[in-house]
Amino acid sequence: MDILKRISEHRAHEESLRWEGTFADYLNIVNETPEVAGTAHSRVYNMIKSSGVGKSEEGTNEYKFFSKELYGLDRAIEQLVEDYFHSAAKRLDVRKRILLLMGPVSGGKSTIVTMLKEGLEQYSRTDEGAVYGIKGCPMHEEPLHLIPNELRGDFEEEYGVKIEGNLCPSCQLMLEKEYDGKVEEVKIERIFLSEDKRVGIGTFSPSDPKSQDIADLTGSIDFATIAEYGSESDPRAYRFDGELNKANRGLMEFQEMLKCDEKFLWNLLSLTQEGNFKAGRFALISADELIVAHTNESEYRSFISNKRMKHFNLE
Ligand SMILES: Nc1ncnc2c1ncn2[C@@H]1O[C@H](COP(=O)(O)OP(=O)(O)O)[C@@H](O)[C@H]1O
Ligand SMILES: [Mg+2]
Ligand SMILES: [Zn+2]
Repeated sequence: MDILKRISEHRAHEESLRWEGTFADYLNIVNETPEVAGTAHSRVYNMIKSSGVGKSEEGTNEYKFFSKELYGLDRAIEQLVEDYFHSAAKRLDVRKRILLLMGPVSGGKSTIVTMLKEGLEQYSRTDEGAVYGIKGCPMHEEPLHLIPNELRGDFEEEYGVKIEGNLCPSCQLMLEKEYDGKVEEVKIERIFLSEDKRVGIGTFSPSDPKSQDIADLTGSIDFATIAEYGSESDPRAYRFDGELNKANRGLMEFQEMLKCDEKFLWNLLSLTQEGNFKAGRFALISADELIVAHTNESEYRSFISNKRMKHFNLE
C-alpha cells in the first residue's frame, strides 16, 4: 500500500465533492432532491436505513448500521430506530424529546453515540446524504431560511418541502450588507459534517458546575470586537461558537447531562421543544439538531426524583 498515493486520492475525492453556488442554484437541487432540505432527525434516520435492514434470529428488524459493531442489542436498537428516529423523522412529537440512552456501564451507550457521529460524517460525504448551508454562516444553516415567512406557504406547496426556522442574526446582517437583500444571489455551499472541524457535530461536557458558562452552549460576546461595532446586539460582536451553534444540522452529544446545572437544561428544553434557543441579546436562534445524552440507572433515578425536573422530556 502506497500511503502517500492513498492520501492524495483521498484529498482529490474530498475536493471532488465540493460544491458552491447561489441560492437560485440550491433551489434547483431542492427541487430535484427534496431530502437535502430534511431535518437533522430525518438525516440520521435515512443514514441508519441506508446501511440496510435484515431480520434477526428473534424476528426483530436488524439495523445493520448498528449490528455490525453491537451484538445482542437488536431489540433495543429496533425500538430506538423505529420509535424514536423514524417517528422523529416524520416530525412526530418524539423529536421534541432529548434522546437519553440509559443502561449499565459498558452497555454500548458511548459506542452508539460514536457510531452516530462517525456515521453522519461519512453520510454527509455521500450523494444521498449531501447537506448544504449558507456560506459564511457560523451555524452553516439551512439555506431555505432565506425565504421570507410570508412566502413559505407557497414555497411549501410548490416544492413539497417544509421550512422551519429563521435566519440567524449573522446571516440577516450579511444578507442586508453584502447582498443588498437579494436572496437569490446568496452563496450556498455543500457542507461536510465533522466533529474535528466543529461542523454539525458537537460534544458538551459539563465542567465544574461553578465555573461552567452557558456560553459554552450558546456562544458568547466577542469582547475584542465589541468596541468596533458599538453594541452587544450587533451580530459581528458575537461569536456563534457554542456547541449548540456548531452542532446545528447534525448531532450534539451531551455528556453527564443529568449532573448539569438546570439553566443548561432549560436551553435544551427550548431547543428541542421550539427549535430555538436564546443567545446573547438576540431574538431566539433557530437550530435543528439531535441531542443525545447517556446515563446509568442510579443517576437517572436520582434525577427523576427531583420534581423540578419533570418537564424534561426524555425518551
Ligand atoms: N452489545 C455490544 N456488542 C459488542 N460490543 C459491545 C457491546 N456493548 C458494549 N460493547 C463494547 O464494550 C465497550 C464499552 O462500551 P461503551 O459503549 O463504552 O459502554 P457505555 O458507554 O454504555 O458504558 C466498548 O468497547 C464497546 O465496543
Ligand atoms: Mg460511556
Ligand atoms: Zn446564519
